[in-house]
Amino acid sequence: MAATTTPTEVIFRVRRFDPMADAEPHWEEFRLPYTAGMTVLDGLRRIKETASPTLAWRSSCRMGVCGSCGMFINGRPRLACNTQITELNTNLVLVAPLPNFNTVRDLVPDLMPMFDAHIALHPYVVRDDVKEQYEPTGEFFQSSHEVEQYLQFSYCIKCGCCMAACPTYATDPTYSGPMPLGQGHRYNADTRDGGFKTRKQQLAGERGPWRCHYAGECSRVCPKGVDPAKAIQLMKRELVLDYLHLLKQGCPAKPMGKPTGAKRRDGIPDAPARTIAGAPSL
Ligand code: FES
Repeated sequence: MAATTTPTEVIFRVRRFDPMADAEPHWEEFRLPYTAGMTVLDGLRRIKETASPTLAWRSSCRMGVCGSCGMFINGRPRLACNTQITELNTNLVLVAPLPNFNTVRDLVPDLMPMFDAHIALHPYVVRDDVKEQYEPTGEFFQSSHEVEQYLQFSYCIKCGCCMAACPTYATDPTYSGPMPLGQGHRYNADTRDGGFKTRKQQLAGERGPWRCHYAGECSRVCPKGVDPAKAIQLMKRELVLDYLHLLKQGCPAKPMGKPTGAKRRDGIPDAPARTIAGAPSL
């Protein structure tokens, strides 16, 4: 089909699979009039409303926040709500469920293996002083430098696009994959957290970052600009330093060096002023 940036008609080829009725997945084709600003998700909704009411997929927010509409669109994992038809540069749109996961139905992948691996890495702040955590007597002070150690990794919306793009996860389902590992590092790098010792039990062997071949596909396809490949390499570094007993206080959550005072990235506001006496200076 000839490429065009403003098509009058869009052809959707959608992979269908109903486990109650189909032995194998098959492709179905739908032709829709193009409307200005049309996204892939808009097209799927139009198909459901006018041609195939049984078509199944997940979506919720329609603005790239909830992470539920990850799909394999024209050969690349993307968010359907965040993909304009015009950016595909063709009026032929191939839509399939995310690879590397079993398919529940049509465009719905079974993401539970990803979330199981995510849960196993304790993706939350872990502290020994539980009483202080739940009844805090002061602030868990962080400098802007310390926030930047984990900030970009916290933008992950758990859509599974990185997992679908990962060549290691494609061939080795025991590997935790880029989303869980990236989120493990997000908390390891948080100075409020002391859960590294707990998480590293999960990071040994085939589940951990050593399986990563650094293909970098996870970071290339992430719709939120997170860099899980970088997080995994930093996690490897933490594990090596921990093995050599070179991590300060045995906890990677502490910054390795002094804040550099380096220029902040545009758009990130300054940290609020200190409100408790005795907080460390920036
Ligand atoms: Fe929420 Fe697409 S519908 S990210």
